Amino acid sequence: MKFFLDTANIDEIKLAAATGLLDGVTTNPSLVAKEKRNFRAALKEICGIVNGPISAEVVSLDTKGMLKEAKDLAKIHENITIKLPMTWDGLKACRELYQEGVKTNLTLVFSPMQALLAAKAGATFVSPFVGRLDDVSTTGMDLIEQIVTIYENYGYSTEVLVASVRSPIHVLDAALIGAHVVTMPWGIFQQLVKHPLTDIGIDRFLKDWDKVKNLK
Ligand code: E4P
Repeated sequence: MKFFLDTANIDEIKLAAATGLLDGVTTNPSLVAKEKRNFRAALKEICGIVNGPISAEVVSLDTKGMLKEAKDLAKIHENITIKLPMTWDGLKACRELYQEGVKTNLTLVFSPMQALLAAKAGATFVSPFVGRLDDVSTTGMDLIEQIVTIYENYGYSTEVLVASVRSPIHVLDAALIGAHVVTMPWGIFQQLVKHPLTDIGIDRFLKDWDKVKNLK
């Protein structure tokens, strides 16, 4: 399973990359806005830290505008993955970029049919938003299960990138279902290693070791 960090914050990306377990980064306009800095400069810096897919989202709503933005963003680094909205225009842009060999990530996916369209259009990644579905009393993970089944039924190579992750349970469920990628905030990434019994166990071992370490 691949782990992506869902942030445009350079400090967080450096910390996650230092674990050696980070496979990529996803950004979106809201995450970039939080950093209050130039988008291209931030993307360039991220590409220098993480050697994996780095999603950069277009803001145009028409295919022509999306393709213009995509060409410009793709020049930043070969790892830039063009994030496109789940609309007919986004799908048309996806198809064209697929034919040109440019990696894409179809975002704002909330239904299995949208995910099927993304795979047919040749998307590299599809981003279903589990947290935002949970927010409206719909089980986001059911969508992941449906998409994984559909992709397996037809052997699509589009990778299921679980997005809008809000807790380690989302990561667990995604792993149990067999989703290819989870993108998560740094806080969730950090929580994955935590277990109170691990902390208690370390403490107990150290205390016991203290009792015998100087014995001759
Ligand atoms: C990532 O690709 C998505 O843009 C992101 O996970 C959305 O997360 P949110 O629903 O917490 O804003």
